[in-house]
Amino acid sequence: MPFVTSTEMFKKAYAGKYAVGAFNVNNMEIIQGIVDAAKAEQSPLILQVSAGARKYAKHIYLVKLVEAAMEDTDLPICLHLDHGADFEICKSCVDGGFTSVMIDGSKFPFEENIELTKRVVDYAHNKGVVVEAELGKLAGVEDAVKVNTKDATYTDPDQAVEFVERTGVDSLAIAIGTSHGAYKFKGTPELDFARLEKITNLLPGYPLVLHGASTVLQEFVAKCNEFGGKIDGAQGCPEDMLLRAGTYGVCKINIDTDLRLAMTASIRKYLAENPSDFDPRSYLGPARQAIQDMVAHKMRNVLNSSGRL
Ligand code: G3H
Ligand code: 13P
Ligand code: ZN
Repeated sequence: MPFVTSTEMFKKAYAGKYAVGAFNVNNMEIIQGIVDAAKAEQSPLILQVSAGARKYAKHIYLVKLVEAAMEDTDLPICLHLDHGADFEICKSCVDGGFTSVMIDGSKFPFEENIELTKRVVDYAHNKGVVVEAELGKLAGVEDAVKVNTKDATYTDPDQAVEFVERTGVDSLAIAIGTSHGAYKFKGTPELDFARLEKITNLLPGYPLVLHGASTVLQEFVAKCNEFGGKIDGAQGCPEDMLLRAGTYGVCKINIDTDLRLAMTASIRKYLAENPSDFDPRSYLGPARQAIQDMVAHKMRNVLNSSGRL
């Protein structure tokens, strides 16, 4: 079975008022943990690869690992480029077997973002690949790019309509209050549901995307810190708000940080409790299970995607 695009997944998610999880992958254990959760939960899923992941593991290894995961589980998998910074990386992933790419022109002025996105859309669509773009700026850290909270700008609903019409992009990431990474804004996290509703009403049936959707579950921050970590992770977007966003046309929710925390907490605990064990399988096995448990939790409680295959 070849990789699938997200088109059918999003149609079903929109109609069913739930979201598909897009989880970042960097190595075999992360991929296995995620797909095993999806299999057990009978949930759709998207596996996404950042520029940093490609640099760390190499494009070819990630593609082959995801192919193996698909063969092993028989799940339809969409392989997506996360935060493509320019045309070249998107082209490389389109040509290299991905079925979905994100061109992130959110750092550019509106017209430049449109021009770049349209160029990627034209190239990708010609090869049967779908495209996600971003309008508005999230706070937080992704790859080498840092956006201060004061520079974050929420998505303008009218601009979103014009952007989608002029680019023909398949899905749009919007900024309504989520932020990347563990070092979220301090204070009570809020999503701007009025803005989300306005965008959904102006773009009926159109799949929206939320980035920076980790909740930074404090239990896992505490577990990391109990075993020697020094993570100052502030509470991210509450899970019930994300669940609600799925009922308003948000069809894709990106989660990375919560998986990283779960994996790191497990490894720190194992090594602290078993200081004489140096077999990597001893700590990577439980770490893989921790990823699986976290993904299953998200599918049930945040995405509402369990049983939707
Ligand atoms: O939003 C970015 C993702 O969490 C990927 O992070 O660029 O460190 O791989 P990364
Ligand atoms: P988090 O870092 O909040 O999990 O966000 C992940 C993301 O948006 C990947 O593109
Ligand atoms: Zn992101």
